[in-house]
Amino acid sequence: MAGIYIHIPFCTSKCRYCDFTSYPGKIGFAEAYMACLYKEMKLRAAELQNKTFDTVYIGGGTPSVIDAKWIVGCLNQVRACYALAPNVEVTIEMNPGTVTEEKIQAYKQAGANRFSIGLQTAIDAQLEELGRRHTAADFVETCRLLGEVNKSADIMIGLKGQTSADIRKSIDLAAGQGVSHISMYALTPEDGTPVYTDYLNGELPDSDEVAAQYDDARAYLKQLGFERYEVSNFAKKGFESRHNLNYWRRGEYIGFGVDASSFMCGRRFTNTRDLDDYIKCILSNHYPVVSDEEITGDDAKFEKVMLALRTEEGLDIAAYRREFGTEFVLDFSDALIKNKEYFDLIDGKRVKIKDEYLYVQNQILMDFLR
Ligand SMILES: C[S@@+](CC[C@H](N)C(=O)[O-])C[C@H]1O[C@@H](n2cnc3c(N)ncnc32)[C@H](O)[C@@H]1O
Ligand code: SF4
Repeated sequence: MAGIYIHIPFCTSKCRYCDFTSYPGKIGFAEAYMACLYKEMKLRAAELQNKTFDTVYIGGGTPSVIDAKWIVGCLNQVRACYALAPNVEVTIEMNPGTVTEEKIQAYKQAGANRFSIGLQTAIDAQLEELGRRHTAADFVETCRLLGEVNKSADIMIGLKGQTSADIRKSIDLAAGQGVSHISMYALTPEDGTPVYTDYLNGELPDSDEVAAQYDDARAYLKQLGFERYEVSNFAKKGFESRHNLNYWRRGEYIGFGVDASSFMCGRRFTNTRDLDDYIKCILSNHYPVVSDEEITGDDAKFEKVMLALRTEEGLDIAAYRREFGTEFVLDFSDALIKNKEYFDLIDGKRVKIKDEYLYVQNQILMDFLR
């Protein structure tokens, strides 16, 4: 499995919690940026000729705020430069209220077959508090325009003043619009964002409250037929995001655009976050890479374990042996013995974190880091 990630760093404005690389008010740069993105894809094409890509993910930022012709051009360039699997999954992220019938038609004709919509919450006052520029009704309208397609919604928990009943409303709203996948993230107060000040002021729910919200929402999602397959991701059967599953299985992916990361041939590398630097580099025929590291030995093993144990499928013991030539239970014997009450062994083949502890897997996995 291999994936392609494409970063579109434009947004209409900055949400109060957001630390993603996005440039509000710079949509005027879209033409220059997209030309560079197409060029970056071409620059990398020769070295990736022997790869077939199973997924393409256009994320942001807000890909849906720029003219649809750039997204269409982007997907055409992907096909011109890279071999795609016949059943390729092509996802586009969008914000409610930023698409029209024409835009969606253009995306679909260009091959998009999965749409990820940032709802965040069904409560309008909370959307406003987050600095979102849409209402819950806009989400409904975006879903109506999308029609019967593979749709996903992002929602958030741990918001100021949010209750479990509010979160159930978000889930109901998404499920009622026929989404087959829900990503549910606990608000992270990122340093430097306005929400961080709310956190310092003690205005956000504490971690026990958020954990309780998570448990309630997980139970409700299950009741509605959404099975958890990763700590923050829930899907109807068969609608798991193949693009994200590939990340957690430590599969290869190539990223294009500002701040895009890649994992290819055992190396992890990341592009610059700076829009001007990115454009300058590409115009002078250089890769805009600012960090590049070969991941080997214990680091590679830890990555494998850390990613796999976020998921419901857990770690495949035989796959680990094939990849590293050593035994998972021996490599991590101390950490496994110390934390044995948190793990399940499935059919002697897989190791996974017990259902009730998956939400706190970060703490458990600290002992695996040597
Ligand atoms: C790439 S981001 C943004 C996609 C899209 N522009 C939007 O806002 O809907 C993907 C998701 O990450 C989540 N997210 C972003 N910042 C977050 C934060 N600080 N804490 C928790 N979740 C966050 C949001 O749910 C968001 O929809
Ligand atoms: S629209 Fe999405 S990417 Fe843009 S600022 Fe808001 S959360 Fe961040």
